[in-house]
Amino acid sequence: MFSIIASVGKNNEIGKKGELVFHLKEDMEFFRKTTKNHTVVMGLNTWLSLPGKLKNRKNIVICEKDVPKADQTVKDLPSFIKNNQNTPEEIFVIGGGVIYKEFLPYAETIYLTEIDASDEKADTFFPIFDKAKYKTTLIKKGSEDGLNYSIVKYNKI
Ligand SMILES: NC(=O)c1ccc[n+]([C@@H]2O[C@H](COP(=O)([O-])OP(=O)(O)OC[C@H]3O[C@@H](n4cnc5c(N)ncnc54)[C@H](OP(=O)(O)O)[C@@H]3O)[C@@H](O)[C@H]2O)c1
Repeated sequence: MFSIIASVGKNNEIGKKGELVFHLKEDMEFFRKTTKNHTVVMGLNTWLSLPGKLKNRKNIVICEKDVPKADQTVKDLPSFIKNNQNTPEEIFVIGGGVIYKEFLPYAETIYLTEIDASDEKADTFFPIFDKAKYKTTLIKKGSEDGLNYSIVKYNKI
C-alpha cells in the first residue's frame, strides 16, 4: 500500500531549483518519525537533492538508469505499482512533483504538511487532488519561525 508524504505551500508549491521551498524542523521531524524503518520511493531529482541515502529506510529510486547508491532502482513503474499496491506494508512516496502525480491515483493515504506561506519562485508543485474524496484528520497544528502549519492526514474514502 502506498502513502504519500509531502510539505506544501499555499499554492501547492513543493520545490524550487531542485530544493525544498520551506524548511521546518518540526516537519522534518514528522517526516523522519513517520517514514523510519519503512521503504521510501522517490524520483531521480529528489534523490539527487539529498545529501545521501536516508538512513534507517529502504531507499528506492525510480529512474531509467541504475542508481548504484540506492537500495533499489525501479525502471518499470507500472509493474512496481501493480506488485506493491495491495501489500500490507506501508510504502512511502516521498516526491517529487513527477512522482507524486504518478502515484496519486494509487495512494490510500496522503500526509501533507500544509504551510501557510507561498513562494512565487517555486517551480515544482504537488498535484491538485479532490479533498472531498478523502477523510481528513488533523495531526498537528503549529508555528515555527513565524510560519503557521498544519499536518493533515487524508485517507481515501
Ligand atoms: N516539499 C516536499 O515535500 C518535497 C518532497 C520531495 C521533493 N521535493 C522537491 O521536488 C523537486 C523534485 O521534483 P521533480 O518533479 O523535479 O522530480 P522527481 O519527481 O523527484 O523525479 C523525476 C524524475 O524521476 C524519473 N522518473 C519519474 N518517473 C519515472 C518513470 N515512470 N520511469 C523512469 N523514471 C522516472 C525521471 O528521471 P529521468 O528523466 O532522468 O529518467 C524524472 O525526471 C525538488 O525541488 C525537491 O526538493 C519536495
